[in-house]
Amino acid sequence: MKVCMIGTGYVGLVSGTCFAEIGHDVICVDNDNKKIDILKSGSIPIYEPGLEEMIKRNADAGRLTFSTSIRKGVERSLLLFIAVGTPPKDDGQPDLSYVEKVAEDIGAAMNEYKIIIEKSTVPVQTSKWVRTVIQRFNNKNIAFDVASNPEFLREGSAIKDFLNPDRVVLGVESDTAEEKLLELYKPIDAIKIVTDIASAELIKHASNAFLSTKISFINAISVICEKTGADVLKVAEGIGLDKRIGRDFLNAGVGFGGFCFPKDLRAFINIAAEIGYDFELLKAVEKINEDQMILAVEKLEKAAWNLSGKRIGLLGLAFKPNTDDMRYAPSIFIIKELKKRGASVVAYDPVSMERAREIMPDLEYAETAYDAARGADAVMLITEWDEFMKLDFRKMKSLMRRPVFLDGRNVFDPVQMKDLGFIYSGIGR
Ligand SMILES: NC(=O)c1ccc[n+]([C@@H]2O[C@H](COP(=O)([O-])OP(=O)(O)OC[C@H]3O[C@@H](n4cnc5c(N)ncnc54)[C@H](O)[C@@H]3O)[C@@H](O)[C@H]2O)c1
Repeated sequence: MKVCMIGTGYVGLVSGTCFAEIGHDVICVDNDNKKIDILKSGSIPIYEPGLEEMIKRNADAGRLTFSTSIRKGVERSLLLFIAVGTPPKDDGQPDLSYVEKVAEDIGAAMNEYKIIIEKSTVPVQTSKWVRTVIQRFNNKNIAFDVASNPEFLREGSAIKDFLNPDRVVLGVESDTAEEKLLELYKPIDAIKIVTDIASAELIKHASNAFLSTKISFINAISVICEKTGADVLKVAEGIGLDKRIGRDFLNAGVGFGGFCFPKDLRAFINIAAEIGYDFELLKAVEKINEDQMILAVEKLEKAAWNLSGKRIGLLGLAFKPNTDDMRYAPSIFIIKELKKRGASVVAYDPVSMERAREIMPDLEYAETAYDAARGADAVMLITEWDEFMKLDFRKMKSLMRRPVFLDGRNVFDPVQMKDLGFIYSGIGR
């Protein structure tokens, strides 16, 4: 089927490439010339394991092309996906102006019947605006359908998540849209849930809100664990074995970040407020997350006594492993907080330092994890990259001024770390 993916970022590029991989004829469009040039030259503008090879394979087979022209993409395709960003505005509302612009361009370029599908995460009822805007620019009054197909992939395992999803959600308002979208997803072996559009839009926000709630829940439990001598890992195991609860997303740590949870949570709180519901539960989830980052810094301060004048080595900057994405990464907040308390920070990340430099040009960056530890009064692990699990911790300790280690993701064994001579602490243990 002919697919046009508008917005070739973390979601659009993976989704477009995976649609090509399952046999469709895909054009990925973006208004960022640089991004499209990189893709046309056979390179890739983001870090996502396995994606570069998959792009190459499908581009070579002629199933995947790239363009900066929405018109070109619209005219040749039946299925038009909107996968542009929906970043938060200063007031926490999602900025839907990118979606609006794409809807205008689609309306103006319509040449025959199209199905326009929201893949971006948008507030419930956004489809009504998408329809209205397309119609306003649709001078030839060509028939079209709007649909919603929220995306649940996770950066770092995006290809696997896209090709083997837990479910595919299709919000439709016509039989044709349902039939065509089911045909599109036929090669993907997963449960397909067909709903009205509002429900599909809501499923995405509700899912992210629920997952964030699980993380903040276990983070709150981790505070109780610390005060009572319990171990949050054991508690998570004990409650996670209950099938009604499940173990996933019950990892205590320095809090969640990324382009989805913080912004979607804020957006959902706002959407609820607008329709007259005070979503107090989600406000608490948000607050616990923010507190968790401060608590981690306070913990380090306690272990190092004072932070003023101390050198802190930071391991990991990306909001999670296997991505270079720095958007709303906890590291940014933690670095600010450490500096506010007078510490100097030197950071290392295996892949995201280039992106981090764009956001934090004045931060000191180390070439290796060992360099980040060299002369440090304390080391704090923020992102649990595999590379960090394989470090020689004897060497690490020998390079540090003081062997204070805060494991912000609970990935190391406290007994082993203490045996190695570290003044080790995790979160909630
Ligand atoms: N990143 C994730 O893990 C993830 C997962 C699920 C859903 N989402 C949602 O998907 C959406 C996209 O997220 P992302 O992470 O891919 O963002 P992104 O910033 O990586 O990609 C968005 C792309 O859209 C392009 N764009 C903006 N305006 C355009 C226009 N008028 N015409 C053509 N291209 C345009 C940008 O240049 C950019 O490349 C968001 O709503 C996000 O919440 C993200």
